[in-house]
Amino acid sequence: MTDPSTISKGSDWGYAPAPESTDHIRLKSRYGLFIEGKFTPPASGKYFQTINPANEKVLAEVAEAGEKDVDRAVQAARKAYDKVWRKMSGRERGKYVYRIARIIQERARELAVVESMDGGKPIRESRDIDIPLSAAHFFYHAGWADKLAYAFPGRKVSPVGVAGQIIPWNFPLLMVAWKVAPALACGNTVVLKPAETTPLTALLFAEICQEAGLPDGVFNLVTGAGATGAALVKHPDLDKVAFTGSTEVGKAIQKSLAARGTKLTLELGGKAAHIIFEDATLDQAVEGIVNGIYFNQGHVCCAGSRLFVQESVEEEVIAKLKARMETLIVGDPLDKNTDIGAINSRAQCDRINDYLRIGVEEGAELFQTRCTVPGKGFWVRPSFFTKVAQSHRIVQEEIFGPVLAIQTFRTLNEALEKANNTPYGLSGGVWTDKGSKIFKVTRGIRAGVIWANTFNKFDPTSPFGGYKESGYGREGGRHGLKPYVELS
Ligand code: NAI
Ligand code: MG
Repeated sequence: MTDPSTISKGSDWGYAPAPESTDHIRLKSRYGLFIEGKFTPPASGKYFQTINPANEKVLAEVAEAGEKDVDRAVQAARKAYDKVWRKMSGRERGKYVYRIARIIQERARELAVVESMDGGKPIRESRDIDIPLSAAHFFYHAGWADKLAYAFPGRKVSPVGVAGQIIPWNFPLLMVAWKVAPALACGNTVVLKPAETTPLTALLFAEICQEAGLPDGVFNLVTGAGATGAALVKHPDLDKVAFTGSTEVGKAIQKSLAARGTKLTLELGGKAAHIIFEDATLDQAVEGIVNGIYFNQGHVCCAGSRLFVQESVEEEVIAKLKARMETLIVGDPLDKNTDIGAINSRAQCDRINDYLRIGVEEGAELFQTRCTVPGKGFWVRPSFFTKVAQSHRIVQEEIFGPVLAIQTFRTLNEALEKANNTPYGLSGGVWTDKGSKIFKVTRGIRAGVIWANTFNKFDPTSPFGGYKESGYGREGGRHGLKPYVELS
């Protein structure tokens, strides 16, 4: 028998590959736009490619929607709203939303594999988090469809109308669910634009709407890049716009809607702080930090990208963190052992590498694990910076990659002051054995979500959203229904 003490991680020892099979995946070579219940070619005849960022292979060609197509989709949504969806009873609408939830569950394995192929995230994450949570959002909102009067007691509740929704690439299907489930449950119709690097699960979702018998035009899908999104926002016949993505584009959308009465919700970037006190269970805290910034390659708007450690435990926390990070496996997203998959695109990979360079130039000290990464595709090894100052760009700006900035503090007030010193306010985390400190920190941090002794936990019943430049409006829970209803 091998003496366990002679087994070392890395060079001579590793897990045997455990790849998820792709045999059951049947992608079309080309996808049209989904308008009025049918897949149709774009007016321009133009298509773009979506690739697998782990090997740079083309997965499918996807239609590029222009102004004409966007207009056709909005008109289809308007017609479906006026003729069918707004008139339907909540009880009937609920049945469709419920059916969508069931089909997502039935096709869960296929959706998880396609999500990992198109976006680069580890199969463990798409299988255990993205897809089950997507189904849960539809189940949850199916329940509200006929109970809206109870969500807003004493008020008359009616839908808003046609919603234009634009989503990013970090949680492709889950963002579809966050946007579409409340809209449909409340009686609105939708034109959705997914991100250009991850359109495939949204296209499969369009098939699911067909399979569920959703009336034509209630859900429409226009694929394309920023120009398609801008054309959608510009369309004069939208009653509501919902956007998740960068603060820069969020601000541009806000500007372009300023002169119109269109309702708007924005979910933008973040720069979440973890605060670890000396009395915390440090192993548990380290696990939470790893989960919060390294899993999903740091492609999470609420990622815990800043860490504040109480001075007395700094060395211990950093030593434990390094040891844990060295065990992280970076590689094939479809392998069940993989902790960190591929960076979503070459552009995002370049952006992260720029920040790594900037951090070093600013005088911070960079640590990266020694793991190997595949030759093809886009990869960044788990990284953190120490010796950073509040003014450093790597502390102030959203990196959206597996990069953590570590600072120390002496007192609770100092930690709060530093944690709040950012333009963002989406989320945060506190690690301590003392309930009183949890309450002080959760009241003191200006952010929409604060986790205590855990991180990145989501549930459809719980509202999510930001303060300051992280946006406004909430998604999930009773609060998340509000942007999709008119109350009188
Ligand atoms: P982005 O904001 O450009 O993309 C998000 C979505 O908006 C995509 O569907 C895109 O096609 C669309 N879009 C782009 N320009 C538009 C416009 N002018 N009008 C309407 N829609 C438009 O984000 P990008 O370039 O993919 O990532 C850049 C940075 O944004 C990341 O490094 C990260 O810091 C941040 N980000 C934040 C996200 C979040 O969840 N808060 C998600 C994705 C990116
Ligand atoms: Mg892709």
